[in-house]
Formats: sequence, structure tokens, C-alpha cells
Amino acid sequence: MTTEKVQVIAIDGPSGAGKSSAAKKIAEALSWDYLDTGAMYRATALALMRAGVGLEDEAALFKVLGSMRLEQLGTRIFLNDEDVSEAIRSHEITQFVTPVSADGRVREVLVEQQRIIGQRGGFVVDGRDIGTVVFPDAALKIYLTASVEARAQRRFLEQQAKGIDMALDAVAADIQRRDHADSTRAVAPLRKAEDAVELDSSNLTLDQVVAKIVGMWRQLQG
Ligand code: DC
Repeated sequence: MTTEKVQVIAIDGPSGAGKSSAAKKIAEALSWDYLDTGAMYRATALALMRAGVGLEDEAALFKVLGSMRLEQLGTRIFLNDEDVSEAIRSHEITQFVTPVSADGRVREVLVEQQRIIGQRGGFVVDGRDIGTVVFPDAALKIYLTASVEARAQRRFLEQQAKGIDMALDAVAADIQRRDHADSTRAVAPLRKAEDAVELDSSNLTLDQVVAKIVGMWRQLQG
């Protein structure tokens, strides 16, 4: 029996490896859509924070999960029709999204939405569990990594460009905190799918990463 592959390129890996930048460009190169699942967890964290709801109040949690509407148009993310693309990148949300994304009840709701969106194919999807849980039948799975130093350096430069002053050490410590939380959580921890191709971007430019992944996709098409 052959399993039907879904036309999805799944890109998983730790924070700051360049997944979302690469995923956007790959989607452009193939004229596909891009789904940023991290943004969905972030928008959920924002919805909970705004409602003043924590993870301990199950009834209130389900109320927020059941009433929020998430949408991604291009690279913008909308929460109940409001563009929250900037609001979800705040330091506060970056901290709060760690426990939110570790919660099995939250994951169940978001994974279902991600499957509905991506199922029709022609999607580049980035996250932590795309190749392992969301689309185990993805046609191509990439596990994108980079050294902590390389990731911290990139994030540091990004923050500086945005006018955010944060010491390189603090950026590296935050990346390590997130790596640890993402890979040791009980539900859907970050790990490489057995059939994923591992790509270390430490010494590659964004364009080189994109070219490698697009090349792998084209090769698969024969
Ligand atoms: O990639 P990001 O930093 O925007 O992700 C935000 C958070 O959501 C981060 O804590 C990891 C988590 N996440 C996840 O658990 N599963 C995904 N598929 C995507 C992100």
C-alpha cells in the first residue's frame, strides 16, 4: 500500500534557524502559499492575554479557543479581523507563548486548523511539529538548524534593525531557554522527523537555504 503524500513542504527546527524567512521565499519561488504556525500560537497567546485568561481556567480557555478566528493573508496574521502581525512579536508574547504552545488543549485546536488549511496542498508550512504531527505525509520535510551562536547573532542584528536594544548574551540565553522548552515539553516536542532532511544553516545565506530546498523539491518532481 502506498501512502498518499500531501503537497506540503514542512520546515521544522529551533527558534532563529531562519525557518520563516526561508519558508516565505520558497513559497514565492514555487507560487505556493505560506503558513506560519508559530504565528498561530502567538496569536492564541495574545487572545488569551487580552482576555485575561490563564491555562488553569479550562472553561475560560475553551471559550477563547472556540471564539477566536485566526487567519493568515499573505504574511499578515489576523485575530478576529484585526491585523496583529506586530503585536504577536512583542517580548511579552514571546515569553507567554512558551506555556501556551506546550498545552495539549491549545495544540489540538490549532493542529486541526492547520490540517484543514494545508490539506489542499501547495503550502510551505513552518513550525516545530509539522513533519512529525501536523503533516506526517508531507512530500518534503526539512529540519532546519543552526548553531546557537549563529542564531543569536542573526536575532541580535534583527532586533537592532528594529531599534530594540538587547545584549547578544541575553539573546543567546533566550534562544537556549526556548530550545529547551520546545524540545522537552510533553506534547509534540521539537524533534526531527525520521524522514526529514537535516539542513544546518549556520554557514549558509538565506538565498542558499532557499535554493537548496527548492532544488530538493524540484528533484523530487523528477
Ligand atoms: O516560531 P515562533 O517563534 O513564532 O513560534 C512561537 C512559539 O510557538 C514557540 O514557543 C514555539 C511554538 N510553536 C510550536 O510549539 N509548534 C509550532 N508548530 C510552531 C510554533
